Amino acid sequence: MKDRGCRIAVLGSGRGSNFEALATAANADWRIVAVGSDRRDVPLLAKATRRGIPSFCREPAAYPDREAHDAALAAALKAYAPDLVLLAGYLRLLGPAMLEPWAGRLLNIHPSLLPAWPGLHTHERVLAAGDREHGATVHFVTPELDCGPRIIQGRLTVHPGENASILAARVLALEHYIYPTAVGWYAGNRLKLEQDRAILDGRPLIDPVVIEETACV
Ligand code: GRF
Repeated sequence: MKDRGCRIAVLGSGRGSNFEALATAANADWRIVAVGSDRRDVPLLAKATRRGIPSFCREPAAYPDREAHDAALAAALKAYAPDLVLLAGYLRLLGPAMLEPWAGRLLNIHPSLLPAWPGLHTHERVLAAGDREHGATVHFVTPELDCGPRIIQGRLTVHPGENASILAARVLALEHYIYPTAVGWYAGNRLKLEQDRAILDGRPLIDPVVIEETACV
């Protein structure tokens, strides 16, 4: 890590609320040096501009295939020399050109208690299944979607009669707490990936750290 703390890049495809939470939480140990997107005209990029953080866009349609798009994204990121890359609502699967250079230095946030409900529409699926608990997970990124070693989860109890949009807002508030927490651990040299395991404070995380909603709102 560089003298001025951990350099972070954020990749996303849309709203950018996790970026905002991260940028607000940044401190002497870490700061966001770049924001990237696969989509133009998204709120995420406008939010980065408003904060004076450099941003870039690499649209898939401009490249012949996924590998070429991944390579272009990786090259754009490399210009900012990030120590850690955060996926925050980045809606594309990453291939080796992105995964290899940042192996162990790439995190994602997902709106469910992984391994439950990988993929999209998690809130609707939680409600349809009648789950009593729901939440969000920060994990290291590996080639399989939403499957890398888990680091931290924010957990809540689903209330009777709750709809998907209320649940989504509660989960998002958890996300805005657990993502900066995980980044702080990484930047403080407390968190790493070793032999496909998340290690926190020198101990393998068999299960992720769980923060209850009541403790973080
Ligand atoms: C979040 O719910 C995150 O868990 C998921 O995509 C959403 C991104 O939201 N991966 P935002 O763009 O950070 O507001």
